[in-house]
Amino acid sequence: PNKQTAYELIGKKRLSELVDRFYELVSTHPELTAIFPDDLSETARKQKQFLTQFFGGPSIYTEEHGHPMLRARHMPFPITPSRGEAWLSCMAQALVETNIEEPLRSAILERLTYTARHMINSEEQSS
Ligand code: HEM
Repeated sequence: PNKQTAYELIGKKRLSELVDRFYELVSTHPELTAIFPDDLSETARKQKQFLTQFFGGPSIYTEEHGHPMLRARHMPFPITPSRGEAWLSCMAQALVETNIEEPLRSAILERLTYTARHMINSEEQSS
């Protein structure tokens, strides 16, 4: 018997709630508002597709948008180390608030931490 995927453990409905909560937090995070669009509905729709396949579900992101090439798709946005940490803190909070329990929560956060660090493409801005 195969191990259940993270996608199966979370379920489609809870994944959708997770992403919606995540972007609510992003939309008010002082480090993040400058680089995200005001209307996050399309961003959330794509993120639901992406995380579905990232967590082992059907490849619905790739079906609509092609290969994710995530680092390349993030190049238009200056992603500094502190923005990487801010993104992860919103995700950590959303995972808790969506009742994704341990040990799954930490396993997911660990994978996302690795991916988020890979997206960093800019130095910290001096102010
Ligand atoms: C798109 C920021 C990490 C997945 C975006 C967009 C921004 C952004 C500004 C464009 C939003 C839009 O115009 O709709 C960041 C920042 C990160 C980060 C600051 C911190 C490291 C990640 C990670 C993942 C991810 C770790 C995946 C696990 C995506 C996806 C899209 C996206 C799937 C949509 C791409 C598309 O247009 O098809 N991100 N991101 N991002 N991000 Fe991130």
